[in-house]
Amino acid sequence: MKLLILNGPNLNLLGKREPTIYGNKSFEDYFEQLTTKYPNVDMIYKQSNHEGTLVDIIHEYGFEYDGIVLNAGAYTHTSVAIADAIAGVETGVIEVHISNVHAREVFRHKSYMAKNCVGTIAGLGLKGYELAVQFFLEQ
Ligand code: DQA
Repeated sequence: MKLLILNGPNLNLLGKREPTIYGNKSFEDYFEQLTTKYPNVDMIYKQSNHEGTLVDIIHEYGFEYDGIVLNAGAYTHTSVAIADAIAGVETGVIEVHISNVHAREVFRHKSYMAKNCVGTIAGLGLKGYELAVQFFLEQ
């Protein structure tokens, strides 16, 4: 089972960024825990702050990998290009948000990509990534 975990803009600052919303742990530390928990899953982690790079990464892995766990950050609420990339590849994508976007500003309630995803997990903290991995494993 090959899974890509893909984070979008500002998620490289996890652990430092608005810790009351996003927590104190860096994604690198969390990813290490995740790979330790699932030693038999071939899991890689990528992050970019750039919309086009996220599109390129989805194209690169989206015909080869068994699943993509995507937190597109703020691009969730703006990016037709990322939504189209998800629709254009074969690999299923699960949308994850650390915070409960529906309990926040109205502009965070809209996801351009949700309709092209297998499903969405929001508001469960970093645990959401693990739940998405578990879902792909049970397919
Ligand atoms: C986020 C929610 C987005 O609205 C925000 O722009 C992010 C992070 C989350 O994980 O809760 O950067 O995707």
